[in-house]
Amino acid sequence: MTDEGSNDDVELEVRLAEQDEFEPPESFVEQANVTDAGIYEEFEENWPDCWEGAADLLSWDEDYETVLDDSNPPFYEWFTGGKLNASYNCIDRHLPERADEAALEWVGEPVEEDNRTITYEELHREVNEAAAVLRDLGVGEDDIVTLYMPMIPQLPIVMLACARIGAPHSVVFAGFSAEALATRMNAADSEYLVTCDGYYRRGDPLDHLEKTNTGLADVEHGVDTVVVDRLGSNGDDFGHDLADDQHDYDDLLADHEGATVEPVERDAEDMLFLMYTSGTTGQPKGVKHTTAGYLAWTAWTSQSVLDIKPEDTYFCAADIGWITGHSYIVYGPLALGTTSMMYEGTPDYPTRERLWEIIEAYEADQLYTAPTAIRSFMKWGEEYPERHDLSSLRLLGTVGEPINPRAWKWYYTHIGNEEAPIVDTWWQTETGGHMVTTLPGVNDMKPGSAGPALPGLDVQIVDTSGEAVEQGRAGYLTVQKPWPGMLRTLYNNDERFIEEYWAEYSDTDSDDPEDWVYFPEDGAKVDEDGYITVLGRVDDVINVSGHRLGTMEIESAIVGVEGVAEAAVVGGEHDLKGEAVYAYVILEEGYEGDDEMRAAIVEGVEDAIGPIARPEAVVFTPELPKTRSGKIMRRLLEDIANDEELGDTSTLQNPEIVEDIRGKSDD
Ligand code: PRX
Repeated sequence: MTDEGSNDDVELEVRLAEQDEFEPPESFVEQANVTDAGIYEEFEENWPDCWEGAADLLSWDEDYETVLDDSNPPFYEWFTGGKLNASYNCIDRHLPERADEAALEWVGEPVEEDNRTITYEELHREVNEAAAVLRDLGVGEDDIVTLYMPMIPQLPIVMLACARIGAPHSVVFAGFSAEALATRMNAADSEYLVTCDGYYRRGDPLDHLEKTNTGLADVEHGVDTVVVDRLGSNGDDFGHDLADDQHDYDDLLADHEGATVEPVERDAEDMLFLMYTSGTTGQPKGVKHTTAGYLAWTAWTSQSVLDIKPEDTYFCAADIGWITGHSYIVYGPLALGTTSMMYEGTPDYPTRERLWEIIEAYEADQLYTAPTAIRSFMKWGEEYPERHDLSSLRLLGTVGEPINPRAWKWYYTHIGNEEAPIVDTWWQTETGGHMVTTLPGVNDMKPGSAGPALPGLDVQIVDTSGEAVEQGRAGYLTVQKPWPGMLRTLYNNDERFIEEYWAEYSDTDSDDPEDWVYFPEDGAKVDEDGYITVLGRVDDVINVSGHRLGTMEIESAIVGVEGVAEAAVVGGEHDLKGEAVYAYVILEEGYEGDDEMRAAIVEGVEDAIGPIARPEAVVFTPELPKTRSGKIMRRLLEDIANDEELGDTSTLQNPEIVEDIRGKSDD
């Protein structure tokens, strides 16, 4: 590099560091799906009918009668009276124009792997055959099918097959433990499971069926299991034999070669899927999404926010086992008839260039990923992306956690070459799709702030009494009006649905929708332009690498380890993961707080939840800081984990323990 070049670089760095507003690049605006700033006003004036445009993105078997039925809040219903099928919308209707275009571009982790291009026609065939397999197995409409698979093509194929026959799926992230699988199958009364023999992680085959079987042993009812063969002969060493109620997926498919299955007409409000997510208590919450509202929401946001067009090759680097993959690898993009990419592995296998190689090879138009990944890329250095032509990228996106301005600017410069706008999308499993983000062809971007609420949404930052807080002051994020993609309830638990999301700011005796306010349990602040900066969770949920984990779940896993009397878990700041798990543990008499015990605790957490929940640190202590009423003061433990000045300890029954724990944490 010449001296002049490095001077330019320095100048650029300085300019970027100071700049806190960025206009959308002109070249992007010229071609963007949404460019009219009048959309905000138009949607406000025309609410809730403004959402007809989202419904128009779908093909209906029968038109809906009512856009929004809000007669029984918070049990809102959208597009009632309408009938449609999600699999038809994501596949069949694209066939006349796009049969030979790729629906999915699948890239396997092993480099020598035969990557797969699955055209819409092939997807149609495979989904039909898979639907025939499920039917033959006895799966009926409304039976919940659990899918426990990594990023292999059969995962979206079986999801769409479920949708075709009106059987809701419940996808359990493959990295979750056997116990987590069993908990979710029991909670959903799910009698069907589709899993696989194993998959690759950093070059090695990993046994997934053994974990599945361990989980199945704890399922309280009979289960028919279908096993996809991912590893072929590379899985021979695992020595698996299928039990009587376990079926080989390929054998079943062979029996249904060329089968076609008519898409089942589903009511707009029929359940499309369940997704379990973490909350304040130990028991995961079964978030219920419905067919029309969810599909309309993901299609509309894919078009408006991710700027997806049918001819794009769109790359979301999330895992389908989480909501981001459901909404923005499978349903939203496929509803629009685009090409959606799936990558099986990690971004640094076999080298730190893998992701950039893939983007270059497939000429991806969008990249949607999490801040945790961006922070890793930044740490590895720009030389890796620099070796590749990333000029195909037209838009960048982030999701899952707040992105710090430095990481934002790095992403903007080194991946987007200052030519691709970034959408920082705030949303949740429960919201179905994007809620707070800029519209990339309309709004300026402010690094660190997600942006305004999407048109048609009423998001307000309030104080504990529900009053709007002043600009710039921290408060609680609330959504004051319903929207089509919202969760409808928690599976089999309407009471908890109200308790978790509505009770805080609503008059729960009222049947006036004006009195109902959705509370996502995030803190936030808003600036003079209505841009919202999300500050993080205000409940006992930790956000590790953009993944949501309940402290109670982790604590109960730790307390399950022999010798542990009590545990408290908090999130501490972490350079790469955003937050990491810090565990404070009291042992029973006679047990040693040594490395062996630490290892047992880590193993206990991995067994109960999965490696993502592994504690960063385990600190043994004779007591935990407690209020006089006996409540653990997690806030103080957070201060310790973050090495911050301690907050008020005056309400503690045992203030001296705090310094004691801090001393131990420094060891
Ligand atoms: O705290 C917010 C954070 O992730 C939570 C939702 O987690 P989950 O349901 O697993 O969904 C993740 C993918 C949508 C939120 O309550 N979060 C998500 N996106 C952002 C975010 N925090 C800040 N900025 C974001 N863009």
